[in-house]
Amino acid sequence: MTTIFDELLAAFRDYLESRADVPTVHDFLADIDWAMPARALDPKAIPGSSLLDRTVDLASGATRPLAALLARHRDQLRWGQTYTAADFGQHFVDNYGWVELFGTRGHFDNDTVAAGFLVLGPGIEYPDHHHIAEELYVPLTGGTEWRMGDAAYRMRWADEVVHHATNVDHAMRTGTEPLLALYLWRGGPLAQRSTITANRGAE
Ligand SMILES: [Fe+2]
Repeated sequence: MTTIFDELLAAFRDYLESRADVPTVHDFLADIDWAMPARALDPKAIPGSSLLDRTVDLASGATRPLAALLARHRDQLRWGQTYTAADFGQHFVDNYGWVELFGTRGHFDNDTVAAGFLVLGPGIEYPDHHHIAEELYVPLTGGTEWRMGDAAYRMRWADEVVHHATNVDHAMRTGTEPLLALYLWRGGPLAQRSTITANRGAE
């Protein structure tokens, strides 16, 4: 029986394989064994899940099917939040969340690569942070500014591939619209809490 999780994993894979022309995507794909066992997880909601409707409108032609599938099945997914209001304030917590599709704690079990989706509401800054794992993001919606290392913020659009090397600071800042992005992690502890750099001590 095909579950909504199988469907989401297949759509994630299709989209990622469509971007295999990008060397970093090709490289991550080589590490993913798609025959992953499903993991039964209780669904968990976040306040920001209503943002997903708008992200479907904002998605590109290529990313809309994946964004729409995620929005349609949002209530069956286990959404998470790494940060609390004590970290970045209540507004952040109300406008932020992620779901791990596969990884050490996701809807599918994978010890090598973790992947999922991040949603951020409008007017949110996810400040400088870093982690050991190497990371790929592909924004499924445009209009968010991204920065890495010492570089300035730069606007990124849907279907762009954003690569964060191990332990290099990176940050995102949404504008007037929400962000939906897919992410992949590998090469480090796959459930590690990021270290926040900006104006804060190491966590
Ligand atoms: Fe990151």
